[in-house]
Amino acid sequence: MKCEICDLKFLIKSYGCQMNKLDTALVSAALKDAGFGITDNVKEADVVLINTCSVRQHAEQRVLSHLGHLKHIKKSRPGLVVGVIGCMAQRLGDKLLEHEAVNIVCGPAQIPQITKLITETLREKKETISVTKKIRQRSSESQTQALEDFESTYGIEDRQVSQDTLPTGVPGQAFVRAMRGCNNFCTYCIVPFVRGPETSRAPAAIIEQIKRLAGQGVKLVTLLGQRVNSYKYTAGEKSYCLADLLEMASEIDGIEWLRFVTSYPCEEFFNDILQAMADLPKACNYLHLPAQSGSDKILRAMNRRYTAGEYLELLAEARAVVPDIAIAGDFMVGFPGETEDDFQRTIELVKKAKYKNCFIFKYSPRPGTTADKRLEDNVPAEVKKRRNIELLDVQNKISAELNREFLNKEVKVLVEGPSKKPHLNRGNDENSPQLVGRTATDYIVVFNGPVSLAGEFVEAKITQTSALTLFGKLTTNT
Ligand code: SAH
Ligand code: SF4
Ligand code: F3S
Repeated sequence: MKCEICDLKFLIKSYGCQMNKLDTALVSAALKDAGFGITDNVKEADVVLINTCSVRQHAEQRVLSHLGHLKHIKKSRPGLVVGVIGCMAQRLGDKLLEHEAVNIVCGPAQIPQITKLITETLREKKETISVTKKIRQRSSESQTQALEDFESTYGIEDRQVSQDTLPTGVPGQAFVRAMRGCNNFCTYCIVPFVRGPETSRAPAAIIEQIKRLAGQGVKLVTLLGQRVNSYKYTAGEKSYCLADLLEMASEIDGIEWLRFVTSYPCEEFFNDILQAMADLPKACNYLHLPAQSGSDKILRAMNRRYTAGEYLELLAEARAVVPDIAIAGDFMVGFPGETEDDFQRTIELVKKAKYKNCFIFKYSPRPGTTADKRLEDNVPAEVKKRRNIELLDVQNKISAELNREFLNKEVKVLVEGPSKKPHLNRGNDENSPQLVGRTATDYIVVFNGPVSLAGEFVEAKITQTSALTLFGKLTTNT
């Protein structure tokens, strides 16, 4: 009997955060295991999966325009199966099935069923949907177990088989989930509604997964959670926090660097985590600590449970315990009621914080969130745009200054691969490709070298810098 999915190929595209990318890697691994081939060419694909994000309207618009394109393709290829997975699938559920292009809708908690959903759709030519009806209810044990099994089976890929499909898509690196969901309910945020309640995975499962990844050549593991610093797991008498996870993971041979994202500004466990960073050579001195705003009035309206002053105290504590720590931030401009004065406070905070880099977003109302229900989106689009540009400009000057300190210094870099956008004006040598990598503290370094270095540690001497990038020359191959 001919295998029903042999010779069939799937294409998968990720539109979201690291969590979303990790899910993409898990789904890809599961489908390959089931016998599907992978392709990045839609003309060759029998199944197209879109892993979606709902965090801002723009993220959803990109998905809708991708679906529009697929609808057009399906006019001449009606057999093409299109699946929408991830946060937007959870948010919109069966409304998505009304879209002409869509055959499958699968929420983040249902990804263990993805192979089944696809084969059913292919076989029975019918639409399928699987999302959690009451996402904020504690999930059943069988559902949690199914997610755990899926994660531990497919979170590990054989590097020998395929270098380009390791869990982060970058050789030598992997994302490992420490926590699922979020309970924080920042008033603007959709994540608690699409990812469900906050739970910490068992440390034994996480450590086992990291050991297997190390065995397959992974050198950098990034632990993931929406508030990863609040990781807490109790087993019998013992309670584990993120600092314990870092310590246990540090003992694993082969793992050289450990990072974790994203942290929420609060005192609980903060000092322990910083101390672990200071004491454990493998724990990278990097902290992503979004502040969102510098105005206490806006922070309160966002349900962020700190003031700008308390936030700065946390940064001071971080720098006291880990003197060379690199700190990244997130900010939102144009939250309802944000006045020019509130915005100036954000600028002041950015100036004081001296971030390595910042991600800046324009507030986007998300249906069902408290901010959307109770507050009017009353900052005009052009004001949001202007504040975004202004804040970015302030940060870019700081980044450029911090980057200049690297001039003529040697840095250790984990090579990711060829630079996607070669910087032609930076002395690019056409005989060897331009590679991109990152330091332990997440600074981006661009230099020329052989592609075979992807996934390896090298030393580079920095010869030029810009606000976003360090440019260097390969010195030694460690
Ligand atoms: N859990 C992380 C990240 C969540 S989403 C945290 O708490 O920091 C990533 C970033 O998207 C957030 O830090 C925030 O700056 C931004 N964001 C979230 N919801 C948004 C919205 N409705 N509009 C604009 N930006 C948003
Ligand atoms: Fe969203 Fe806040 Fe949770 Fe982050 S901590 S995921 S911003 S609700
Ligand atoms: Fe991530 Fe977007 Fe979902 S930020 S958790 S993919 S809403």
